[in-house]
Amino acid sequence: MTSFEKEVSEGLLAFPKQLSSKFFYDKKGDALFQEIMGLQEYYLTRCETEIFELHKEFLIKAFDEEKQGFDLIELGAGDGKKTKILLRALLDTNYDFTYKPIDISQNALDGLEESLQKEFPKIVVSPEQGEYFEVLKSLKTSSRRKKVIMVLGSNIGNLLHPRAIEFLKGLRNVLHEQDALFIGFDQKKDPQTILDAYNDSQGVTEAFNKNILTRINDELDGDFDLDAFKHWEVYDPETGTAKSYLVSSYSQTVTINRLGLTIDFEAWESIHTEISQKYDDPIVAWLAEASGLEITASFADSRSYYKNYLFRKKE
Ligand code: TRP
Repeated sequence: MTSFEKEVSEGLLAFPKQLSSKFFYDKKGDALFQEIMGLQEYYLTRCETEIFELHKEFLIKAFDEEKQGFDLIELGAGDGKKTKILLRALLDTNYDFTYKPIDISQNALDGLEESLQKEFPKIVVSPEQGEYFEVLKSLKTSSRRKKVIMVLGSNIGNLLHPRAIEFLKGLRNVLHEQDALFIGFDQKKDPQTILDAYNDSQGVTEAFNKNILTRINDELDGDFDLDAFKHWEVYDPETGTAKSYLVSSYSQTVTINRLGLTIDFEAWESIHTEISQKYDDPIVAWLAEASGLEITASFADSRSYYKNYLFRKKE
């Protein structure tokens, strides 16, 4: 059984039902997410791009005060659009570095590798496919050269705090004293702005959320009727957690042939698909403390919608 088959069957047999958002990202899902990143309502990518544009020189200095060169490792690299700003600046200063993009989507990595080859033929790139917790293991055995590990976008936000701490501890364990960790945390803000970002007017986010059902139909011979489900987004300003659901508009039975499963839905029963956690400074400080990390700098966009924090290992 593949992990997709296993998690789909476990998730749909559970109560309440859930499907992991990591399965959104196939070829079609990657394209839809790229479209989301360009939407007016989806502020995250523009904010983080602004941070990179504003602070790239300072960032490079902060990453490597000794100017010894480093391996840049990025978890959840996607299309690498923001990272390319940094890569260009590193090349312009003749920096000695390599780039290792890691992503759950082989399709995204193939696209990224090809575009890097074209735009930055000089950079040594070594992509790796895998998910967050798997990848931590492989980083442990990697070289002793200085490492800068980046986790951008809403990657960390896919994890609720206890899992985020587990993940951050895992990252801490692969860091040496001089290494740096650079992570983006989407900030708490007007709840309406957040809701709009995850429920755009053109229905791209809806299609993206439903792509997991399309994958089940295509890959596991399922018969989900996409029109029978509503994309639903909620945001709780107290916990800072945005959640995406697919809600069954009536009672129905879905068959997934490859898994030999029939799944019953009550009218208005939900499938939880995604967490997008939002943060503020005290929460990030608490996560760092709980994970044995120390914040050494932070960078915000002009509206403080989004912040990137630089960490090092706390001895
Ligand atoms: N979790 C990612 C984010 O917060 C990707 C994402 C964007 C997403 N829109 C979504 C996931 C809608 C599920 C539903 O940016």
